[in-house]
Order: sequence, then C-alpha cells, then structure tokens
Amino acid sequence: MKRSAVRAPQTVMTERLRGRRIQIVDFAYVREIDTDSRVMQTLFGTIQTEQQSRLRLQRWLQMWSERGIGFWLFSELAGATVGHGGLFPSPREAGEVEVGYVLKPAYWGRGFATEITREALRIGFDVVGFERIIAIAQTTNVASRRVMEKCGMIFECERPFPDGVPGVRYAMTKANDAPLKS
Ligand SMILES: CC(C)(COP(=O)(O)OP(=O)(O)OC[C@H]1O[C@@H](n2cnc3c(N)ncnc32)[C@H](O)[C@@H]1OP(=O)(O)O)[C@@H](O)C(=O)NCCC(=O)NCCS
Repeated sequence: MKRSAVRAPQTVMTERLRGRRIQIVDFAYVREIDTDSRVMQTLFGTIQTEQQSRLRLQRWLQMWSERGIGFWLFSELAGATVGHGGLFPSPREAGEVEVGYVLKPAYWGRGFATEITREALRIGFDVVGFERIIAIAQTTNVASRRVMEKCGMIFECERPFPDGVPGVRYAMTKANDAPLKS
C-alpha cells in the first residue's frame, strides 16, 4: 500500500445512509458492538473488554491520521447509527488493503452492509487509487460472504486465522470492478 497516494474522503453517502470518519466521541458505539455477543461471534469470538475497545478505537483513529483510510460510522438519513465500514491496511495479509463492515443486529438483513461495501470499494478504486482490495471472513460467516459475492468480489482461498478458526479470502481488482458500476 503506497502511503503517499492514500486519502479517502471524511464523509460518504450511499443511497440510504450517510457515513462520516469515525471519531473519539464514537467510543459508546464501539462499546455497544464490542459487548454484543451476536456481533462478536463472527469477529473475535468473544465480547471485548473496555480496554480492548479503547485500543481498537485508538488504532482506528491512528489509521486515519497516518494512512488516510479507515472506517466510517454510518447512519440512516433520519439519524440512527446502523454500523461502520471502510478500508484498512490488512493486519493479516501484508501489503493488502481490506474492506470491512459491521452492523448493529437490529439492521441486519436489509442490504445495508452491501450498500456500505460497494461504496467503500468504489472509493478505494476510484478515489484513492488502489489496484486490489480483499475481504476476509470466517468460513462459516455466510452473511459476510454473501455481501462479498453481491459486491462482485471473487473467492480466492481458504486460510485459517492465527487462532486456527477457518477463514476465507475474497478479492476485487480495479480491472474487474464492473459490478460496482451497475
Ligand atoms: C455480516 C453483516 C455485516 C451482514 O450485514 P447485512 O446488512 O445483514 O448484509 P446484507 O443485508 O447486505 O446481505 C446479507 C446477505 O446474506 C444473506 N444471509 C444472511 N444470513 C444468512 C444465512 N445464515 N444463510 C444464508 N444467507 C444468509 C442474506 O439473505 C443476504 O443475501 P441476499 O441479499 O442475497 O438475500 C452483519 O450480519 C454483521 O454485522 N455481522 C456481525 C459482524 C460481521 O460478521 N462482520 C463481517 C466480518 S467479516
């Protein structure tokens, strides 16, 4: 990932959602998702301590300031926060950029993650200039894999997480981003 080229917008809009760069004041949101076992089940396997959430938000803020990419917090146009998503340097695959997304359970199943992911990919390719973006999920995370597929990402391989949990990697390249234009 070239540092100098990276600069994602601070705010984004999708058809039904508005997103803004995540901030220190969003700690309550981070705690809400980090203590929800339904959300954590497919991320870390267990709910997070306050200190873990604090460090996570710190890393997210640092990523924006040092790399110019990161997560946006998304809200419905009416105002309610639905979740977050965005782009980040992959902590698991050296040199790769990952797209990630998390929604509060009350908003699952309404196509929001797909909407967020399509926009994050579009910005990654068309605004920031990445050539390739990957997505990683637990093999059994059917909803997340479906989001990747609906966005036009292609399955590449199975690869266990460091803790041994089976995982899968999908990817999209700039040359094959036609599904984002439709
Ligand atoms: C994964 C997650 C982001 C999906 O969000 P979402 O807004 O519900 O996703 P979408 O509505 O855009 O799409 C979900 C798709 O998966 C499908 N799906 C969901 N659960 C499914 C299941 N158990 N079996 C088969 N398909 C399933 C939905 O039907 C939908 O596909 P469709 O539009 O073809 O019907 C959300 O469940 C979440 O936040 N989970 C916890 C965090 C997480 O796992 N994040 C991803 C980490 S890799």
